[in-house]
Amino acid sequence: MADLYQKLEEYAHTDYYPYHMPGHKRHLCGNVLAQTARWDITEIDGFDNLHAPEGILKSVQEKAAAIYGAKESFFLVNGSTAGILSAVSATVKQGGKLLMTRGCHKAVYHAAYLRNLEIKYLYPGQHEVFGCNLAVTASQVEQALKEDSDIQAVCIVSPTYEGLVADVEEIAKVVHKRGIPLIVDEAHGAHLGFHPAWPKSSVQLGADIVIQSLHKTLPAPTQTAILHVNGSLIDRRELKKFLRIYQSSSPSYLLMAAMEEAIEITNSRATELFGSFLANWTEMCDKLQNCRYIHFLKESGMDIGKLVIRDKSHTFPGQQLYDILLEKYHLQMEMATGGYVLAMFTIGDTKEGYERLTEALLQIDEECGREQIPGQTNENMQTLPQVKYKLCESWGKDTKEMLLKEAVGYIAGEFINLYPPGIPLIVPGEIFTEELCGYLQDCMSKGLNVQGITERDSAIFVSCIAKE
Ligand SMILES: Cc1ncc(COP(=O)(O)O)c(C=O)c1O
Repeated sequence: MADLYQKLEEYAHTDYYPYHMPGHKRHLCGNVLAQTARWDITEIDGFDNLHAPEGILKSVQEKAAAIYGAKESFFLVNGSTAGILSAVSATVKQGGKLLMTRGCHKAVYHAAYLRNLEIKYLYPGQHEVFGCNLAVTASQVEQALKEDSDIQAVCIVSPTYEGLVADVEEIAKVVHKRGIPLIVDEAHGAHLGFHPAWPKSSVQLGADIVIQSLHKTLPAPTQTAILHVNGSLIDRRELKKFLRIYQSSSPSYLLMAAMEEAIEITNSRATELFGSFLANWTEMCDKLQNCRYIHFLKESGMDIGKLVIRDKSHTFPGQQLYDILLEKYHLQMEMATGGYVLAMFTIGDTKEGYERLTEALLQIDEECGREQIPGQTNENMQTLPQVKYKLCESWGKDTKEMLLKEAVGYIAGEFINLYPPGIPLIVPGEIFTEELCGYLQDCMSKGLNVQGITERDSAIFVSCIAKE
């Protein structure tokens, strides 16, 4: 039974009058809060404080840590973003050096910016057909660490947005040989480790800090996430200090109660929920093997649940496939790139969800190959821009707007991301290349969501550093 929910429910039936926040006083609410306001409290007597937990929140977090196999776990009410900011800040000293994968989420870059960090990148490369980022390997990490003795922490992402999983066990060994901590952004992996058909969680594989978005893959509301700590390399006081800095001083009890329940449901019903997830997934994949042109990303050890869909005849590039699935079949995908579409499945999906996508893809496959449009195998950028200046020295400098087509050779003054997934295509301080400018132009013409550029009078502008 979820303790926090029960305590909130019991409290809702008492006659305590609220001379405290929130302003709805547990009854005056619109439709959105109507069902939940009775439990929406703050740090009142008899409850607890997430920033200094001693009672119910301490025990609920301890329960979560035991389920995931962590020494300590911290509820995050500002998403994995807050956990990543805190993890990086607590492990690398102000002005220190961080080794990170270039395909990390923007939150890692933001942490580096806030702490004036020097960044050294790991470039895991791209999948040669799908063009998505690969997971980083232990030998890439080992090589990078050999080349630089000043690195204070390593941050990698696993699983990637597309479900590719790194060998975290080996990477942790390599990183620990240097006596520094490994942070794993496992935002897409809160469901790992609950069933043998899925990869293990990095919490079980030797990582020192693991951050998971509960809202991405568990039945939990948006913004909920958790940070796990293991081993002896993490200064807990520093970590808690940064969690206090980056998280709201009014953590929502609704979110925290929902987190407890989501973890509880996932854990107590793991065999049943993941069993039927696996059965539905396998049935769908078996049927989709009949496709002639539509094909799927398949790599060993991949996370089950990420269906990365591509038309190898190029009749339907990623965004077009996404639009057809949305408009004709009313199937809302997670995201599209120029080359592929991503559908996400979790324990929350119904049989109908699998059947509708299977049916739609089988029908679309009939249309593929009609006109064999020549296309690249990999529609993504091949080379990443070079770093000219450090992020922390570049972001915030005076900038000027430049026409995208004239920006080659100039230094970026702003991040440019495809959203989702929020991985920067260019970071402030990097040099615009001809390939990047062409790629951005192409993304815009395909209707992809590019953040960090301005469109005006049918022209595209980017922000460049005004004076070097
Ligand atoms: C790999 C990765 N890390 C971190 C985040 C941030 O997570 P949140 O939205 O929970 O703050 C995301 C969000 O998309 C992500 O894809």
